[in-house]
This record gives sequence, C-alpha cells and structure tokens, in this order.
Amino acid sequence: MDGNGRWAERRGLPRSAGHRAGVEALRRVVEASPGLGIGTLSVYAFSADNWKRPEAEVGALMMLFKTYLRAEIVRLKRSGVRLTVFGRRDRLPEAVRQAITRAEWETRNGGRLHLRIAVDYAGRDAIRMAAMQWASDAANSSLPPSREELGRYVAAATHSPDTSPVDLLIRTGGEQRLSDFMLWESAYAELFFLEEFWPDISAHILATTVEAFRVRDRRFGGLSLRTGS
Ligand code: IPE
Ligand code: MG
Repeated sequence: MDGNGRWAERRGLPRSAGHRAGVEALRRVVEASPGLGIGTLSVYAFSADNWKRPEAEVGALMMLFKTYLRAEIVRLKRSGVRLTVFGRRDRLPEAVRQAITRAEWETRNGGRLHLRIAVDYAGRDAIRMAAMQWASDAANSSLPPSREELGRYVAAATHSPDTSPVDLLIRTGGEQRLSDFMLWESAYAELFFLEEFWPDISAHILATTVEAFRVRDRRFGGLSLRTGS
C-alpha cells in the first residue's frame, strides 16, 4: 500500500492525511475483493524497517492501526471478513496489541474474505526465525526440511495461520521493488506495479488488475498449459 505520503504532499497535506486516505482505499479494496474472486488479501501496512521513520509519523501510524482495528470490527463482521495480523508483536504498543487480539477474535468466523495485515513485518526475518525454530525442533535431523515444512515455520514465525503462496502481488506508488514483503510466499507470484498512489486505488483499478492477472500464463517453471510450449 505505497504512496500515501506522496499523495498527501501533492495536496499540500500532512503525510498523516495520506495515511488516513489510505485507510479509505483499504476499505474499498476489502469491499471489492470477494466479488473479484479474492479469498485472501494480504496488505503491507508497516514494515520492520518503517521504525526508521520520524517518531511522529510512526506514532500517527500506530494510532491509526488502533483506531482502524477498533472501529472496523462491526463493518468487517457484517461483510464476513476475518481479520488477522502478521509480523512481530513484541515491539508494538500494548494498546495496538490488544486491539489486534480483540479484532482477530471478534472476526474469527468471517468466511467471505481473509484480510491479513502485515505490521512490523519483514520477509527475511520470517525466514530467519523459521530456520531457527526448525533447527531447534529438528536438532537430530540429517535431512533439510521440505519446502512445505519450512513454509509452515515461516508462517508460524509471523503468527500467521496462513501458509498459502501469493498468486498476485500488487505494489502501488510507482516503485518496482518488493521491500522485504512475503519473500518466501511470493516465489511464483505474478507481479504488478501500478503508478497510482495507494489512496487513489479504486475497485475499478483492482478489477482491471485482477483481469490482467487472470490472462497471465502461469507456468511455475513447467510448460504452458495453453499452447503446449
Ligand atoms: C504508505 O505509503 C506505506 C506505509 C508505510 C504506511 P508511504 O508512507 O510509504 O508513502 P510514500 O511512499 O512516502 O508516498
Ligand atoms: Mg513509500
């Protein structure tokens, strides 16, 4: 969800106004997702490297997460959305941690969409923690873990109940990089880099991107099922 700050700066607004507009965009995307055949939606809200930002911006973001998690429960439940948060929890303010626990519990039965929000997340740290846990669990094993097995450890390392691979990865805001997001899970993800800033993302843009994803020829290293080549 990149481009909130630039969206605000273009309008002469503080960056925090961009983050608030970003929340609106997230609502639109969550709303539109089930109708587009999306069952799991993972969004990158705050990376482990975002702690480097000025304290005021980090504080505003933490406040926004707390408000979103508290205020959104009713709407999410009504729309059948289950919300979970993945990443590290131990560095988050206590009030944010509590809001996460509450929102996850309240929305646990949502079956239309699984919304996963990455907070204090880094893909390499997930793999690092997974390796460490596996090594301690399998101290006497002479075989390396299978991909599936290590994948379960990667998910567990970020408190995620979900081990599924990423099919479609969209980055908004014009940059073309992954910035440490879901590295393990994105091995065969189809990548889309959009010029639009995140607060400008509409249901229509999402639908167009999903359509473009559907006609991509996904071979997973094999041969095309479409043309045989
Ligand atoms: C939102 O966009 C992503 C978050 C870290 C919350 P940015 O804050 O990175 O916006 P730009 O890239 O400065 O425009
Ligand atoms: Mg950015």
